Amino acid sequence: MSDFTDFGDTALKGAQPEDRATGGLLEVTDLSVDFNTEDGAVHAVRNVSFSLGQREVLGIVGESGSGKSVSSMAIMGLLPKTAKVTGSIKFQGEELVGLTYKQMRGYRGNKIAMIFQDPMTSLNPVFTVGYQLAEAYRAHHAVSKAAAWSKAVETLALVGIPQPDRRAKQYPHEFSGGMRQRAVIGMSIINDPELIIADEPTTALDVTVQAQILETLLNIRDETNAAIVMITHDLGVVAGMVDRVQVMYGGTVVETGGVHDVFESPRMPYTVGLLGSIPNPALLGRRLTPIKGAPPSLMNLPSGCVFSPRCPIVTDECHSGEPPLVQTGNDAHKARCIRWEHLAGIDDPQRLFATDEIGVVENPAALVAEAPDLVQVEDLADVEKRLDEQRAEDA
Ligand SMILES: Nc1ncnc2c1ncn2[C@@H]1O[C@H](COP(=O)(O)OP(=O)(O)OP(=O)(O)O)[C@@H](O)[C@H]1O
Ligand code: SF4
Ligand SMILES: [Mg+2]
Repeated sequence: MSDFTDFGDTALKGAQPEDRATGGLLEVTDLSVDFNTEDGAVHAVRNVSFSLGQREVLGIVGESGSGKSVSSMAIMGLLPKTAKVTGSIKFQGEELVGLTYKQMRGYRGNKIAMIFQDPMTSLNPVFTVGYQLAEAYRAHHAVSKAAAWSKAVETLALVGIPQPDRRAKQYPHEFSGGMRQRAVIGMSIINDPELIIADEPTTALDVTVQAQILETLLNIRDETNAAIVMITHDLGVVAGMVDRVQVMYGGTVVETGGVHDVFESPRMPYTVGLLGSIPNPALLGRRLTPIKGAPPSLMNLPSGCVFSPRCPIVTDECHSGEPPLVQTGNDAHKARCIRWEHLAGIDDPQRLFATDEIGVVENPAALVAEAPDLVQVEDLADVEKRLDEQRAEDA
């Protein structure tokens, strides 16, 4: 288990280990989203519950198709009409489920901001960056153009753009990629949102860029007290930088807890698999162990535990019903696995995934001798170095 300990500590920057009070700002309860398609109903999100307090930073992690974006789109009221949304999403005590597109406009881009991480499509090449930020501000505030321009310059400074006065007058093509990314973040947060949702696009961004984005968002949080939801495929991106992690699989939450608990003591085999597929300096020289098999079809979910077809410690009992999310340690640490205690007793759970066979590993220690050839994994220090270079380039 200690294999996971060092990772959080050596991760990029800004660990926030202290426990924060949860809840208050956003309360999501039993959220489910189905899409009716010609081929049948797609159960994209199933009974997802979580809460978020002011200043809290939540990382939502999971493979492609696990329901991360659909959950956040539901919060933003951006789902298409084909989506059937049930459950409750309360923002500052107000129910958002059932609001019209127009009613949601008071929240979207104002109290709740979403950052779509594609700087090229979010900025218009024919207007200056300052103009675009100022217009985003004027969309929600009845202020003069001069006041909006000042706010634009102030926001560019907040997201870490040097010489914001001069930069505001430039066009997007005059910005480096990293600065464009910051400008997009600035445009999203110019209205001082209470909640910022940053969603990694399907074409996964470089881990360095994602870490930079999160770093910028954490600075914004310090200034504005906003809460942040960071959505990513990569557990490595959120290591040491978020307060809580929510792991999603097959449209539902399979593990949730404080970032240190989830990294150091994962209680769901899927989380162990995710942790084994990220570069970890503590494990240099050891092979990465990706999770074998494919995520489930959301139209035709496996019976019982959704992870059972890929789980290395599956037993017959796992097929008899979907396991509930149960408390595994402190109040906040929960896992959807009936064998979490068995998992907790395994010394080196990552070895569970170092085999070609699924569902047969009861004694992972026996696998050590069979471990295949080693390959070097990228050292996180390299990521840190690239971050520094990028910061220097932007300065
Ligand atoms: N409009 C839609 N109609 C039908 N199915 C949809 C629609 N939008 C999303 N889905 C399905 O919902 C499931 C969850 O999608 P979602 O976009 O939330 O995944 P994700 O976890 O964000 O994945 P990624 O990491 O690739 O962004 C997927 O199977 C997707 O195909
Ligand atoms: S042990 Fe069973 S319940 Fe736990 S993840 Fe594996 S298949 Fe699911
Ligand atoms: Mg997505």
